[in-house]
Amino acid sequence: MSGVSVAKGTEDAVPASGDLVVLNNVNKHFGALHVLQDIDLTIARGEVVVVIGPSGSGKSTLCRTINRLETIDSGAISIDGKPLPQEGRELARLRADVGMVFQSFNLFAHKTVLENVMLGQVKVRKADKQTAEQKARALLDRVGVGTQADKYPAQLSGGQQQRVAIARALAMDPKVMLFDEPTSALDPEMINEVLEVMQQLARDGMTMVVVTHEMGFARSAANRVVFMADGKIVEEATPDQFFSNPRSDRAKDFLSKILHH
Ligand SMILES: Nc1ncnc2c1ncn2[C@@H]1O[C@H](COP(=O)(O)OP(=O)(O)OP(=O)(O)O)[C@@H](O)[C@H]1O
Ligand SMILES: [Mg+2]
Repeated sequence: MSGVSVAKGTEDAVPASGDLVVLNNVNKHFGALHVLQDIDLTIARGEVVVVIGPSGSGKSTLCRTINRLETIDSGAISIDGKPLPQEGRELARLRADVGMVFQSFNLFAHKTVLENVMLGQVKVRKADKQTAEQKARALLDRVGVGTQADKYPAQLSGGQQQRVAIARALAMDPKVMLFDEPTSALDPEMINEVLEVMQQLARDGMTMVVVTHEMGFARSAANRVVFMADGKIVEEATPDQFFSNPRSDRAKDFLSKILHH
């Protein structure tokens, strides 16, 4: 593991306990498209990083490389000091260490909410059913949907389903949670209930990478904002610095568009 490091400018907020996710000169192409260009990004344990940027800038691809849903062409990614495994059981374990919450909730439709949150614990973490159920119920309570445990996903609102998806990821005791636009498929009145769960997670010290256009969340929960455009990290700053004084023209242009509608 690498030495002690904290996010720039956030010494008070981040416990100084080392780097958890390190991307080193990462490059990826989709055919002729250079979708990730020389990406260097280090995320400290307990840090909350919000990734923003225009559509097509590579935010989702970046998230997907961190749990190896996408391969990379060059560079290196490590989690907790270990390089990403290529395949097999090691890869399954890594995926469990890296919780992922997508825009679409991806719950199993034919399993109950409770079963959805138990499944990975039993299959990947080899927990016994009783332990898995106890933990699932506690997590469902924690995200505010404990009373929905025996329903099927389709019987829940979008906001409730997304909170189940968060509970399901948390059930694996992930080292880091990746959120890719977790609220952008939700009706407006359900966005806050999901953001509040994420705020609480951040306060509890979870390491989080969050792709979102929710600038209120970025301002209140992020230790750092990473701004991407055209496959590159163009700017990194604290939310205060970024929103009040963006340095690049790309960021200024992007902010003027999203903050004025
Ligand atoms: N599997 C794929 N095959 C080919 N091109 C892809 C693939 N996935 C993404 N791309 C392209 O890579 C670029 C970056 O896509 P990505 O989804 O990472 O962007 P994004 O920043 O998440 O955008 P959005 O804000 O719209 O979600 C886009 O031009 C996209 O069309
Ligand atoms: Mg995306």
